[in-house]
Amino acid sequence: MRIYIDTANTSDIKRIITKFPVDGVTTNPSLLAREKMNPMAQLKKIISLLEKDMEIHAQVLSSSAEDMIIEADYMRRQLGEQIFIKVPVTHEGIKAMKELSKAGFNLTATAIYTPMQAVMAAKAGARWTAPYVNRLDMIGANGVQVAIDIHNILTQMKGKTGLLAASFKNVEQILKLAEAGAGAVTVAPELLEQFLYHPLTEKAVTDFTNDFECITAKGATMKGL
Ligand code: E4P
Repeated sequence: MRIYIDTANTSDIKRIITKFPVDGVTTNPSLLAREKMNPMAQLKKIISLLEKDMEIHAQVLSSSAEDMIIEADYMRRQLGEQIFIKVPVTHEGIKAMKELSKAGFNLTATAIYTPMQAVMAAKAGARWTAPYVNRLDMIGANGVQVAIDIHNILTQMKGKTGLLAASFKNVEQILKLAEAGAGAVTVAPELLEQFLYHPLTEKAVTDFTNDFECITAKGATMKGL
C-alpha cells in the first residue's frame, strides 16, 4: 500500500519524510490556503523536498473542462513530471479527465463519495480515485466500506486505476483498508505519527535499556564494547 502525506506544510513534510517510508504528498486547495503562501511557490517548495520517485498531487480550480485542461497543462509545465493532477468528479471534471489521460497526464480523481463516481473516473483514465472516508462517516455513511467497494470494483475492472483513499480520523480506518488491499492512502501528518504508537513498545525499549545499563554504564550501547 502506498502512503502519502496529506498536507501542504513543509515542516511537517520534512519531518515525516526523513523518518517514515512514504511515497509522496497530496494537497488540496484548502491545505494550500492554510500555508498563506503563493500556492504555486508552495508546491515548488514541497517538490524540492521530495525524492525523484515521489508523487505530488495538486488540484485544478477551473470550472469548465476546457479551462481545467489548460490549467493542468500549465501546472505540469511549472511543476514537472512528479505532478498528479487532481480533478473533481463533476461532469466537467470527467470530461477534462478523458482528454487529459489521452495526453498522458497522471490524474487523481478527487471529491469521490460514491463507487459509481470512481467507475466513471476509471473509465476516463484516472490513475487514482480518492474517496473521502471520514467525510462519508460524518454524513452517516460507512466510509471504509465505500472505499473497499471502490477497491473491489477497480480490481474487477483490471485497469490501471487504483484506490487512493483520503480523509481519515483514526488508524483503524486505514488498517481496514490495508487489510482489504487498498492501493494507497493519504494521511494527515498528526495521524501518520500515530501509526507506530503503542505504550508497551515504549516500555519494552525502556526496560531493555535499563537491563543493559545494569551490566555496562549509563548511556552504553553495543558500540565500543
Ligand atoms: C483529499 O483530497 C483531501 O486532501 C483530504 O484527504 C480530505 O481530508 P479531510 O476530510 O480531513 O479534510
